[in-house]
Amino acid sequence: MRKPAVPPRGPLPLPGITLGCDYNPEQWPREVWDADAVLMAEAGIDLVAINIFGWSALETRAGEYTFDDLDAVIDLLHGHGIRVNLGTATSSPPPWLTTRHPEILPVTADGTTRFPGGRQAWCPSSPVFRRHALALVEQVAKRYGQHPGVALWHVSNELGCHNALCYCEVSAEAFRGWLADRYGSIEALNAAWGTSFWSQRYGDFAEIQPPRAALSHRNPSQVLDFHRFSSDELLGYYRAEAEVIRRYATAPVTTNFMVTAHIRNLDYWSWAPHVDVIANDHYLDHRLGDPTAELSFAADLTRGLAGGGPWMLMEQAVGAVNWQPHNLAKSPAQMLRNSLTHVARGADSICFFQWRASPHGAEKFHSALIPHAGTDTVAWRSVLDLSSVLRRLAEVAGSRVVADTALIFSWPSWWAADGDGRPSEAVRYLEQVHAVYNALRELGVTVDIVAPGADLSSYRLVAAPCLYAISDPDAAVLTDYVAGGGHTVVSFFSGIADETDRIRLGGYPGAFRDLLGITVEEFCPLTPGTAITLTSGEKAGLWSERLRLTTAEALACYRDGPLPGVPAITRNTFGAGTSRYIATALEADALRHVLREAADDAGVTPTEPCDDGSVEVVRRADGDRRYVFVINHGTDDIELPANGHELVEDRPVAGMLRVPGGQVRVVREVGAR
Ligand code: GLA
Repeated sequence: MRKPAVPPRGPLPLPGITLGCDYNPEQWPREVWDADAVLMAEAGIDLVAINIFGWSALETRAGEYTFDDLDAVIDLLHGHGIRVNLGTATSSPPPWLTTRHPEILPVTADGTTRFPGGRQAWCPSSPVFRRHALALVEQVAKRYGQHPGVALWHVSNELGCHNALCYCEVSAEAFRGWLADRYGSIEALNAAWGTSFWSQRYGDFAEIQPPRAALSHRNPSQVLDFHRFSSDELLGYYRAEAEVIRRYATAPVTTNFMVTAHIRNLDYWSWAPHVDVIANDHYLDHRLGDPTAELSFAADLTRGLAGGGPWMLMEQAVGAVNWQPHNLAKSPAQMLRNSLTHVARGADSICFFQWRASPHGAEKFHSALIPHAGTDTVAWRSVLDLSSVLRRLAEVAGSRVVADTALIFSWPSWWAADGDGRPSEAVRYLEQVHAVYNALRELGVTVDIVAPGADLSSYRLVAAPCLYAISDPDAAVLTDYVAGGGHTVVSFFSGIADETDRIRLGGYPGAFRDLLGITVEEFCPLTPGTAITLTSGEKAGLWSERLRLTTAEALACYRDGPLPGVPAITRNTFGAGTSRYIATALEADALRHVLREAADDAGVTPTEPCDDGSVEVVRRADGDRRYVFVINHGTDDIELPANGHELVEDRPVAGMLRVPGGQVRVVREVGAR
């Protein structure tokens, strides 16, 4: 049974492409507020997120609230025509609460408490924390629920950024309740977790603990379910705050997701249906091989969570962050390219952390719209430039990204594929997903990112990278799609286990043996750095496997390594469609080669291919409105055919469009309004 696609969403609460930022006036004297509001209006700031960390200012003692300052800020911003994204203030509990109730503090897998002094020092399952937090939310929602200046409600902040996994006794009890609801009986749980292994059989749910630090590898099914429980627990917390807000307010409710490479504990596919506006925080991560490509991936995944509709970039940085080992600055051109890449991939709101760089606190070295040096700065002028470009792109808002290729992404597969005791620690889910995504991006193929089990019928090509754990119904959706004429590319370590992380027997990949026309009897991972060559002359590494063809044909075999002559890339005709299987970690050029052939089979028409990913061409459309974004990350100018009106420079284009190195051009294509 096909899962309905994520419901498409309507437009964002504000018209055009919104420019916004976090604002923490409680860090500044009142006279700065007035200057800030004037500057914000001059800069074209449309939306300001406030009160995100306001708890200790609003509730100075239990049950004693003071709203004077928040009243003043909201009225000041409203008076300047700046809309408010109103935080519920609950992200960081005040010291009086953690002092009075230390039982709300989170506990790590090794049983140690994480104390106040930073932020998010609370256990997601704590009823004491939730009671105090919801009491505050009720006060805020009751007071501002009908304020004309409030355009959006911002629940907590980055739920699960630091406190996603809590192993305290309260969490343990909540986990046991969650398990009882999921399995119904202890026998069903024992079966799902394979507890006959290592004498782990439970006689009662009361005997179950969270997967705390153990002497050896923990039960992988227990770890997987604890991830599911933890994500559900924070979703439940979000829904509790949203329910209180909706008693008093009609403005939409959101919370800032973290679709990014270093946060993996929230299965946002399960969150998306409960959030009125999909919003993401994204920061270039220079710990990755290709931070710019990861930005595009995160933007496409966030669009997927929004059902292909508009979404908000709730936070990004003007320049350097302060939480990476080396916090690189950004040129104005790069900041503009990053911002417009998000817009190209469906963001109709570009917001920053934060308005004014903090003079103290743990993020004092984090960039901001107004740096410590003030407004006579390159950073501030880059914000003004961005603001004027976003004004000229206002007509793009509400259009949808055009894509005929999908990539299936799964947080449970991420959790399980990277689990203890796997064939190779060098094989990591997100890296394998990024490799396939980046190759498609380099081919000029725009990708929608979808959940396992989502409706695939509108796509010509579907990629399934490292889709390790998949249920029978979700696997059947991909199989049926190909049988009906679709085309897919599946990479290794996909279809290996079911949703309980139980291995599918009879030969790998148990979920896709027939679809792919192969069977694998043994994994033969390679030590990192070992290169192997295929009969095509192309290079690979990390992984190989003892594979037999059943109905598939070999496109290339290993030429060397542990399995010379064994097929490494296969193609199978399955029903009216085709499936390709990649049984190793191909070098980028080889991966593009396989994907390009699959795209040809599928009738996918790439846009501007560029092997180094330096040019991105993405289309957005809405009826007869058609826009093409050309993002040139390279240093050389590029030219490509275009006809219509270029919006960044506001000039007509007839025939060829030139995009200078490092810049972006957006064309309203001819025939569009
Ligand atoms: C996240 C948080 C912000 C701030 C920034 C720093 O987005 O929401 O409060 O910590 O990171 O990059």
